[in-house]
Amino acid sequence: MSSSFGTLFRVTTFGESHGQGVGAVIDGCPPKMPLDEADIQPQLDRRRPAQSKLTTTRKEADRVSILSGVQNGKTLGTPIALLVKNTDQRPADYDQMRSVPRPSHADYTYQMKYGIRAFSGGGRSSARETVGRVAAGAIAEKYLSERYGIGIVAWVSAVYTIDAPSPDLANVRRQEVDRSAVRCPDLRAAEKMQAAIVEAQEAGDSIGGIITCVCRNIPTGLGEPVFNKMEALLAQAMLSIPATKGFEIGSGFGGSRMRGSAHNDVFIKKGEHLGTRTNYSGGVQGGISNGEPLIFRVAFKPPATISMPQKTVDFEGNDTVLEAKGRHDPCVVPRAVPIVESMAALVLTDLALQQKMRENETV
Ligand SMILES: Cc1cc2nc3c(=O)[nH]c(=O)nc-3n(C[C@H](O)[C@H](O)[C@H](O)COP(=O)(O)O)c2cc1C
Repeated sequence: MSSSFGTLFRVTTFGESHGQGVGAVIDGCPPKMPLDEADIQPQLDRRRPAQSKLTTTRKEADRVSILSGVQNGKTLGTPIALLVKNTDQRPADYDQMRSVPRPSHADYTYQMKYGIRAFSGGGRSSARETVGRVAAGAIAEKYLSERYGIGIVAWVSAVYTIDAPSPDLANVRRQEVDRSAVRCPDLRAAEKMQAAIVEAQEAGDSIGGIITCVCRNIPTGLGEPVFNKMEALLAQAMLSIPATKGFEIGSGFGGSRMRGSAHNDVFIKKGEHLGTRTNYSGGVQGGISNGEPLIFRVAFKPPATISMPQKTVDFEGNDTVLEAKGRHDPCVVPRAVPIVESMAALVLTDLALQQKMRENETV
């Protein structure tokens, strides 16, 4: 059972899609950090529904309130509670889903596990839950940026069968990513991706995609072998995002098709430290950051709720046809970009605090 994530920077999210609100409680945020709502809102705005014609039309302003843990614009070191109220629920859209579990959604498994479920809007399995992660992640990002100069940038690198060329990993910025509604910095690929999403939506269907993320200026030494290796925690963090189906770091699955002589990241002197000429490792070796950029990819499936009729059975096993009503994302990746960045920030902050504690213990 877990709605909590992290060891020292521990985040608990709460709220159902059609309940009164969603949010997070962060326990372990360092004290005396300047913080107000304006630090959090920009990432929530990037996650928000109805931000473009490529996303669900549910209208939520997603304004965040900090309820505790901050005084006169500074963190107190005490739990920070963050709340976003839900305003645009339409439970009637989910009437048929009381009795018919959506194929490839979480209705059946939640019902089997708990014997009860918030059928309206998908409850906790809805992507509305990720509001809390993004709000908490924005705080983690601020800490990482101010304390270490760490920068995190994710973008859409593929939609359905359309792959975008890689941007310059050393320089890609969020402004470039946000130039297109689909959040792909390559504008030619972005145009094709957008057309594919609109086409799927008009057909009452959905499509998947891939998000790539780079994190720069990570100090060497973050990661807690053996079970809390950096890539292991990242994989857990990313695969906890709804609709994810795959995680790759560095060369990923493609690395299995290479020879060691080509795959090895040869060391070179970079300033005071050693660096590597290539980065097939993706910035992590032995579960510990090596000072090179962290680079990973997350695959998202086509979302389950589609308006096209689907032959299926109800909870009793009777044949039926499901034509989902409601407002749904035809492709989740444009909105999932800030969610991936936020989960990366939560992992890195937790590991940075653990390393800081270890260094303080050193005699
Ligand atoms: C940003 C975002 C938006 C999503 N929007 C929808 C949606 O509109 N309709 C839908 O069926 N699933 C949507 N999902 C995915 C479901 O929440 C998810 O597929 C469902 O909970 C089942 O979990 P699983 O796919 O991880 O197994 C979205 C996911 C994300 C990250």
